[in-house]
Parts: sequence; C-alpha cells; structure tokens
Amino acid sequence: MNKLEARGICKSYTKSEMTTEVLREISLTIAPSEFVSIVGASGCGKTTFLRIVDGLIQPDSGEILIDDRSITEPGQDRGFVFQADCLLPWRTVIDNVALGLELQGKDRQTAQENARPYIRLVGLQGFENSHPSELSGGMRQRANLARALAIKPKVLLMDEPFAALDAQTREIMQQELLRIWSQERRTVLFVTHQIEEAVYLSDRGSSSPPAPDASNRSSRYNWAGHGPSK
Ligand SMILES: Nc1ncnc2c1ncn2[C@@H]1O[C@H](COP(=O)(O)OP(=O)(O)OP(=O)(O)O)[C@@H](O)[C@H]1O
Ligand SMILES: [Mg+2]
Repeated sequence: MNKLEARGICKSYTKSEMTTEVLREISLTIAPSEFVSIVGASGCGKTTFLRIVDGLIQPDSGEILIDDRSITEPGQDRGFVFQADCLLPWRTVIDNVALGLELQGKDRQTAQENARPYIRLVGLQGFENSHPSELSGGMRQRANLARALAIKPKVLLMDEPFAALDAQTREIMQQELLRIWSQERRTVLFVTHQIEEAVYLSDRGSSSPPAPDASNRSSRYNWAGHGPSK
C-alpha cells in the first residue's frame, strides 16, 4: 500500500483574466517510510504542490490519497515544515513545539511533556524557554522541524526548509534530518531547488524542468536518487 499518492494533479491560477498553468497531471506515489524529494527551479510549482498535498489549497482536478483515503483539507496526519520559519514570536520554543498538540486538544502541560522529546531530538535542549528572536536561523528551523514531528504525522512535508541557511548550517541540518529520519522513519516529501541536497537526502527523486513560461511548465521526468545508506 502507498502511504501517499497524488493522482493527476492539475492547478492553474487566474488573475486579471490571465490564467497561469502551474501543475499539469502530476502523479506520484510514496511508500511508507520513504524519503522522496522533488527538485525544481523557482516558480515551477513546488510549494503549490505541497500545499495541495497538505490540503491547504484544492487542485483543479486530481486527487491526493493518504493510506488510500482521499484528503481535501489539512489534518493531523500531515506535518508541514514551511519555506520560511513561522514560529509564533510571543511563544517560547517549548510552547511553539507544543502548539500542534494543544490544537489536538491536549492541555498545555501534557502538550509540553509530549513536545520535550522532540526538542531533544532536534538538539534544542536548554532552549525550551527561549523565544524565536533569541535563536539563530538554524535553531529556528530545528524548532520548526520539532513542531512538525511532535504531532506524529504520517507524512512530513518539507518545503525548502534549509534554503535560507548558510552552507555550513545547511549541511549540519541535512545530517540532522537524516539522523532524525533514521530514528523516526516517517514518510517524507521534501522539496528543494538543489539537486545535491535531494540526492544526498533521498531514496528517490522527481524533478521538474525550470518554469519556462506560463503556458508550459508542467512536464516532468524522474531520476534515481542515490542517498547515503540510512
Ligand atoms: N496564490 C497565488 N495566486 C496566483 N499565483 C500564484 C499563487 N501562488 C503561486 N502562484 C504562482 O504559481 C507559480 C508557482 O508558485 P510556487 O510558489 O508553487 O513555486 P515554487 O516552485 O515553490 O517556487 P520557489 O522555489 O521560488 O519557492 C508562480 O508563478 C507563482 O507566481
Ligand atoms: Mg516555494
């Protein structure tokens, strides 16, 4: 059984009577515990695709299935690590990581207890009571990752989570992600514009050619990724 399946996803945006086709017939299957990357140039529709998988926006046609069940709205079975970190500045690290658990209906203390192991997992122990403004960019992205993992999603969706980091921090975060993934074994759909990052991290990859113009940006081909043994 597939953990995640996208079937013939199409999406266009219309503004001022001009329609831009972003995704055409995108299909993808991901097995349980697989780490799959999508590589593509800026503007080719990577974030749009992830937002559709997350249920934040609807495709014009096509279907997303998780465990063979069609999804149409966001749910606790998916965790999203956004392109820009979106921690709540007035909440501490522990309260940011606990946020999704509180939204699940857990009281604050239980949510914090459940969040703590994920703070350790991403190496932020000691910073539980810091606010995002007191953290470096890499630490903020660790907190974002912990927040997405804490709800124990079936599928982790990651949208260029390390793009804003310097090369050295990015490398450390990539290693950390593989370490965490080897412990947690979640199904991961990772989006990046860096082929090297995709090859390093993934079991398998799918790439989209650069977005050439508004009328033809959706053809797609596959390549085999050769990540390190995990
Ligand atoms: N809400 C929207 N309304 C209209 N057009 C949009 C909207 N969101 C995205 N687009 C357009 O769709 C195209 C794809 O955008 P998307 O954000 O999915 O690209 P991306 O591959 O994630 O790019 P990047 O690598 O820069 O993040 C772009 O041309 C963008 O302008
Ligand atoms: Mg994007």
